[in-house]
Amino acid sequence: MILNTELEYKGNLFPSHIISYEKNLDTLNFTTENGVILQITVQRDSVLRFRFTTTGIFENDFSYAITKYASRGYNHLEVEEEEDKYIIITSKLKCQVNKADLRTAIYDAQTNELICEDELGFHWEESYEFGGDIVKMSKVAQEGESYYGLGDKPADVNLKGKRFENWVTDSYAYGKYTDPIYKTIPFYTALHHKKAYGIFFDNTFRSYFDFCQERRNISSFWAQGGEMNYYFIYGPDMSEVVANYTDLTGKPHQLPPLWALGYHQCKWSYYPEAKVKEITNKFRELKIPCDAIYLDIDYMEGFRCFTWSKEYFPDPKRMVKELADDGFKTIVIIDPGIKIDKEYSVFKEGLDNDYFCKRADGPYMKGKVWPGECYFPDFTNPEVREWWSNLFQELIEEIGVKGVWNDMNEPAVMDVPGKSFPDDVRHDYEGNPCSHRKAHNIYGMQMARATYQGLKKFAYPKRPFVITRAAYSGTQRYTSSWTGDNVASWEHLSIANIQAQRMCMSGFSFIGSDIGGFAEQPNGELYARWIQLGIFHPFCRTHSSGDHGDQEPWTFGKNITDVVRKFIELRYELLPYLYTAFWRYAEEGIPILKSLVLYDQLDTHTHYRSDEFICGEKILACPILEPNAKGRRMYFPTGEWYNYWTDEIVEGGQELWVDADLDSMPIFIKSGALIPKYPVQQFVGEKEIEELKLDVYFKIGKETSEVYEDAHDGYDYIKGRYSLRNFSLTGKTTELVIQQHKSGKYTTPYDTFKLQLHGLPFKIKKVIIDKVEYSFKDIQLNGNNSFIINKDFTDLHIL
Ligand code: GLC
Repeated sequence: MILNTELEYKGNLFPSHIISYEKNLDTLNFTTENGVILQITVQRDSVLRFRFTTTGIFENDFSYAITKYASRGYNHLEVEEEEDKYIIITSKLKCQVNKADLRTAIYDAQTNELICEDELGFHWEESYEFGGDIVKMSKVAQEGESYYGLGDKPADVNLKGKRFENWVTDSYAYGKYTDPIYKTIPFYTALHHKKAYGIFFDNTFRSYFDFCQERRNISSFWAQGGEMNYYFIYGPDMSEVVANYTDLTGKPHQLPPLWALGYHQCKWSYYPEAKVKEITNKFRELKIPCDAIYLDIDYMEGFRCFTWSKEYFPDPKRMVKELADDGFKTIVIIDPGIKIDKEYSVFKEGLDNDYFCKRADGPYMKGKVWPGECYFPDFTNPEVREWWSNLFQELIEEIGVKGVWNDMNEPAVMDVPGKSFPDDVRHDYEGNPCSHRKAHNIYGMQMARATYQGLKKFAYPKRPFVITRAAYSGTQRYTSSWTGDNVASWEHLSIANIQAQRMCMSGFSFIGSDIGGFAEQPNGELYARWIQLGIFHPFCRTHSSGDHGDQEPWTFGKNITDVVRKFIELRYELLPYLYTAFWRYAEEGIPILKSLVLYDQLDTHTHYRSDEFICGEKILACPILEPNAKGRRMYFPTGEWYNYWTDEIVEGGQELWVDADLDSMPIFIKSGALIPKYPVQQFVGEKEIEELKLDVYFKIGKETSEVYEDAHDGYDYIKGRYSLRNFSLTGKTTELVIQQHKSGKYTTPYDTFKLQLHGLPFKIKKVIIDKVEYSFKDIQLNGNNSFIINKDFTDLHIL
């Protein structure tokens, strides 16, 4: 007879003292007397990876997050042994490992400043329920330390004082501080004493981060299974931390087609075909630029993915072509749930090939989504992804759809506790079979990846465009994303602003919100203010649930329509600027949006700022987040800023009132900047670009700007057919010098620049281009501040 069924509870367990140490090239193993191994890998001089095992054996080393293109290699590596510790020294870092307990402390190699130090360090609890460990880590919070990142958390930019959970969750109408929501990006950047470092906890189980909430001076993170496996990434610049994290987890595999940076219109749902046409025609009629139109679930036959409703869309190929002729790219939604229907080919193929997820004891994972009861492909199996990618052939190659929208891929399941799969569901996990506890957070990512592979194949030689709701670290390699089902409220406008900045700081820049709000309906004022913010987000799309009325740019009367048009037009003018910012992101991992703290971490005023942000390198924007506002106070970071509307100059380092009636918004340009602009087009490619406008903002001193261009689609740019112009501006009291260095083999269609000079403190007397003096007539000097110049100049003097 069993008298006692209580499990033994051992509480927290800790590594004991080191008994052996071995070094194998860039990898060091420290083994403790109680069988714990700490493995430190020197990925780069500024990036160290820490892995712990409590069993003496490491699991197969596999990560969905880390890209095979991650940089590896260091300049310097040396290990010193002292009586009580080992010291690993690279050119950037010194990492101490205590012999007594495996605790580590990391110092700047140059200045010897303490950057990051274990408190309890690694510890664990054994999991009786599932086996393995609950793995934990705690660090000392340094004086004045702040924390940023973590993906889509709808909390303040600075995460200090809060605890967060990472578990990808369908969160309809979430609110400020709802946690968790759609994405899991277990990466944060910490900042103290002017220096920043990052921690990427690459563990896909349900995980948690505590930033001094539980204990004032301790930060910690832990996960319900798997390994304590994290990367320490040193800056000391925040942007370096983010760039290095993005290098590890990957940059977008290619640039988006330029049209994807245009304006997109969406609703649940536009149908039938006549309604879709009514919408697209209205855009053209009202001359509101738009590049993409979305079909939500109602385009399908009974919500069966890869089918079309015969009633609503009898001839999709014709419709998609007609839309394309009018400049609209058609984007369709595809969810993971496959309707259980023996007559449905996708279901049959999945079943015949054993592609659907199963429960631990064998039955299929059955769950209700839009189509009713469904089975779900196991996207963690490469064979399933290959099959899935091929399902797109007809949609993309035949019908001409240009983009795919992956939704409900948390995976969302209706009417069940937890709103997702139960824990016992089995996954292939690239041949490392596991339960849903481990695969949940990457399920949506792998779906988006499979979709991306399909688009990449069938859209070729054009570039793919995918958008996903769920994501884990690394998903940015394949797709864009939006912040899910938000609400039409002023608070949500501010949340959208923060989420976009936070995603950018988390390596995922191709992000936007449902402009106007998904649930409920905005009034015209809120919609206009949201568009003003949205045009600065890398992904710019209006979407709404459709339950509460219309949400198109013309829904709220002529005044609002005019404001919306004005700002969407501004986005289209700024396309070369946004594209250049995207290129920098894809090339170097530099976030497209920069919270002020990322822009200037040395200025402590920026550490808690959430509203203002830098878009690209030169534009400072600050949305109006309240009704009835005639303007607002905002903080200006270091530097000198031109009011975009008035050219008035503001000195940075102070908070000031800025006027901004409903038809305006605080936008500032960094002095010394050259901002490239295209003419307003109704869609990308409508016009041949005959001239590039360059807005030049005078500054005393030096500033550099760049303009990246290519064919706006296709892959030729990878073979060098791009055009990169580096401009360097030097302003003196009576002279302005602009030098241009051009690289790349792409020839832009235009021959001239139209220079528009702002803030020039002198009257132009002379213009010397490449050592030749020009008369005002030759350069069509217009007033005192605009003239036309050949695009190939290298040296321009304005006197
Ligand atoms: C989810 C999505 C939303 C979509 C709806 C119907 O709620 O987040 O964007 O419109 O499903 O497909």
